[in-house]
Amino acid sequence: MPALLEASGLTKHYDVETGGFFRRSKAALRAVDGVNLTIEPGETLGLVGESGCGKSTLGRLLIRLIPATAGRVMFDGMEITSLGPKALRAARRAMQIVFQDPFGALNPRMSVEETIMEPLLIHGSRRGAASRDAVTRMLDMVGLAESARHRFPHEFSGGQRQRIGIARALILRPKLVVCDEPVSALDVSVQAQIVNLLSDLQTELGLTYLFIAHDLGVVKHISTRVAVMYLGKVVEVADKRSLYARPLHPYTQALLASVPVTHPSQRRRGTIGQPRITGDIPTALAPPSGCRFHTRCPHVMPICRTDEPAMRQSGAGHQAACHLIAADPPM
Ligand SMILES: Nc1ncnc2c1ncn2[C@@H]1O[C@H](COP(=O)(O)OP(=O)(O)OP(=O)(O)O)[C@@H](O)[C@H]1O
Ligand SMILES: [Mg+2]
Repeated sequence: MPALLEASGLTKHYDVETGGFFRRSKAALRAVDGVNLTIEPGETLGLVGESGCGKSTLGRLLIRLIPATAGRVMFDGMEITSLGPKALRAARRAMQIVFQDPFGALNPRMSVEETIMEPLLIHGSRRGAASRDAVTRMLDMVGLAESARHRFPHEFSGGQRQRIGIARALILRPKLVVCDEPVSALDVSVQAQIVNLLSDLQTELGLTYLFIAHDLGVVKHISTRVAVMYLGKVVEVADKRSLYARPLHPYTQALLASVPVTHPSQRRRGTIGQPRITGDIPTALAPPSGCRFHTRCPHVMPICRTDEPAMRQSGAGHQAACHLIAADPPM
């Protein structure tokens, strides 16, 4: 089956001002730098990495909420990076986003009904009985009472507000949903409920997810495959089982070692005793030469400082960019 989404060389540089008052100059902040990625229909691709590594920027680029500096994205057979405004609007129906902050993402002056219905109206539906019925179905699907309809966001808890955000994202029946840290702002007790809801809705509606999170613990339950990002680059992509059992990139190994282990039986073989990651993430204004992780890598070699490692295949469905990795022999 062809991929639902395929990104190649996807890049986003932001022009930012640097320096003090007298020596101000412009520099390119390389938020996303040459990312290749595919998302298969029906899967959940987990995307993890430290704060500032470019996860949200990548998620927004993939559905063209922001324009790319370079590279392209094929979505469902269309090259969305070059669509004109009208075609882009039509394509947007099929690509939606759920935000991290259910407080900031909802307009406090709009009722729940107006909030959930708005995307339908933007895409040309009328504010009639059919639209109201669609809202009723969405309320039911996300587990909110019918009585929620005429209330306002501030009357709800964080978890319930996230349910409103999910209903709004799904009312257009998209194919791909970018879930940008949808549970990070929620109480731990509520996180599992929202992850389970997203999982049930995926099955019910045949959705494909890009699920963004800070750490590998959160995406473990929901992901089919996982991509790990470091300083604007994807450094490892693998099937979930393979990534957690055999993390290849030292950065992934460090991320896994920092996932809290709640029960001794859950300890993963191969990650015990892995070094914890130390030091701050370097600035995306001047990323390190060679392998961007070399300044923090416990296994750094001279070549890592000079040559950027290419993505190499190592085992079925498993790729990583590290000079230590022995690639599969060419077929
Ligand atoms: N509009 C913008 N203008 C300038 N720089 C930006 C802009 N948006 C993001 N950045 C920068 O791009 C880099 C990547 O940011 P991004 O928000 O994508 O990271 P993230 O991985 O989602 O982080 P977090 O986990 O904190 O959400 C950061 O250095 C950030 O400061
Ligand atoms: Mg983010």
